[in-house]
Amino acid sequence: MPTLKFIPQNKIVETEAGISLLEAADRGGLYIEGDCAGKGTCGKCRARIVQGEKTEPTEAEKKHLTAAELEAGWVLACQRLINQNSTIELPLQKDAHTRKTTLSGGVENLEAEPAVKKVFVTLNRPTVQDQKADLERLQDALGCHELQVNPRELSSFPSMLRKNNYSVTAALTSNRLLSLEPGDTTAHLYGIAFDIGTTTIVGSLIDLNSATVIAVAAATNPQNIYGADVISRITHASQVKEGLKQLQDKVIDAANQIIKDLLKKTGVARDRVYEITAVGNTTMSHLFMGIDPTYLAPAPFIPAYRRALEVEALSLGLNINPSGRVTFLPNIAGYVGSDTVGVILATNMDQRQDVCAAIDIGTNGELVLAAGGKLMACSTAAGPAFEGAQIKQGMRAATGAIETVDYRDQQICLRTIDETPACGLCGSGLIDAAAALLEAGLVEPSGRFVNPEENPENVPKHFRDRLCPGQGGYQFILVPAAESATGEDIVLTQGDLRELQLAKGAIYAGLMILLKEAGLEEKDLNQVMLAGAFGNYVRKESALTIGLLPQLPPEKITAVGNAAGDGSRMALASLTMRQRALSLPQKVEHLELSTRPDFQDIFVEALPFKKN
Ligand code: FES
Repeated sequence: MPTLKFIPQNKIVETEAGISLLEAADRGGLYIEGDCAGKGTCGKCRARIVQGEKTEPTEAEKKHLTAAELEAGWVLACQRLINQNSTIELPLQKDAHTRKTTLSGGVENLEAEPAVKKVFVTLNRPTVQDQKADLERLQDALGCHELQVNPRELSSFPSMLRKNNYSVTAALTSNRLLSLEPGDTTAHLYGIAFDIGTTTIVGSLIDLNSATVIAVAAATNPQNIYGADVISRITHASQVKEGLKQLQDKVIDAANQIIKDLLKKTGVARDRVYEITAVGNTTMSHLFMGIDPTYLAPAPFIPAYRRALEVEALSLGLNINPSGRVTFLPNIAGYVGSDTVGVILATNMDQRQDVCAAIDIGTNGELVLAAGGKLMACSTAAGPAFEGAQIKQGMRAATGAIETVDYRDQQICLRTIDETPACGLCGSGLIDAAAALLEAGLVEPSGRFVNPEENPENVPKHFRDRLCPGQGGYQFILVPAAESATGEDIVLTQGDLRELQLAKGAIYAGLMILLKEAGLEEKDLNQVMLAGAFGNYVRKESALTIGLLPQLPPEKITAVGNAAGDGSRMALASLTMRQRALSLPQKVEHLELSTRPDFQDIFVEALPFKKN
């Protein structure tokens, strides 16, 4: 069994021979960037073999790594099979999950109205004259005569009652007993609200007595080893033996790690967590529940279910109170999931009478329009470009990612997350970079880089050596190799601009179709809400410059934070909110864009960066 030492993480992983370095790192809980599910096409899963087996580079490695990098031991982790003890250097990847985690949001003005209640009771002691069974005695004290009890829970009743002078606390949801506890534990009532994103999973621990979020934790969705987008994961689930189970295990493991972190941060005992709510896109909801998502991928994109699913935590292997309940909120359609239900709930769109839209930009783009009390939703095949995938040096929003780019005093100025040397470009940086280069005149509205040979007068002298030929056209060097963290130029390529155009065109066109269907125009929009961590960080001026958003005054565009996660928190803290969430799929009209003959024309019109 080869032993791998990863540096600088200082992690030792023992693994069987013959698996890829990417998989070995994953088994050791180490994250390696990559978005092609190990096909060797994205070139992002770089690692360096410091000591150990060095074999001939594969074709994919020759394509993505320079001769000097190959010579220095750099490899693509998905291409390297492990057969010997080795020391591997992995570029540090500190996640910037904190960008998506906040203690406020969703529940601050809610009245605590949890589904789980706790009641402290002292039972009458049995006598020869009163020989009622313990369970009947408990039912009497609770005033509930149809109490459903799990035999597992029932087995501990007799001794617990007697050891505690018949004073116990019952944790209940309507007529189901979740837990019977010694003494008065009514002060300890907790739940966890999850937002299961394709890229990031966030969990919030909520004190259900006060409807307060007391801790938040997050992790990368480890399913990403099977691909950055939902289609790759559906393919893995449907075509690989045990694929569905592997995907479910990954997400449940990550959820359990988050639960562990939350409990450690707060000192809350695992058994005092009685309920979980979760939201996610429809694919994530199927994979979390272990339900075959195969038929979501081909038209007509049919999910196995839309309604909310409620199961026991134990059945999913989630480490809260074993009798605790897990509710995954309902989906709206194959590509509009319960995360959109969460967004509608958190932004109150179902209660508004004006015209407003919410855009949740993540790995997929989901759009909702509210107009005069009517709700419509659609999803756009925006692709994961805004999460850094399909972009040459794209990366998630993590340390070293370029997050803002400005054109100021005739210079391109940029800032990275944590202000460390740049190692790539995240979604907000990508939009900013395109907007800045448009302003600088280096990119034409059509999306093409200016050709410095054809139009030398359009390229200021100090930019000439930064605009150079690359694959498929010109590329602009944002950070030269000497100043980057990776030792290579950080560039924005012509291909990156095309990916961005496709993504932003799809979102804009989706919104236009919703408006058209409602008989409205973009000027009728009273507000556009940008949901998701990305919405918080994208600069509206840049989004307007590249034509991602309708041309509205900037004050009509608002970032609403992680609204999907806020919706999950609200549904956990308040039964009234949960009922509202459960009823939303029936109230939202879903538009399937792929069947719209007008979509293609609107999409093509939306591709240029600026309207001429
Ligand atoms: S090239 Fe290895 S994950 Fe994409």
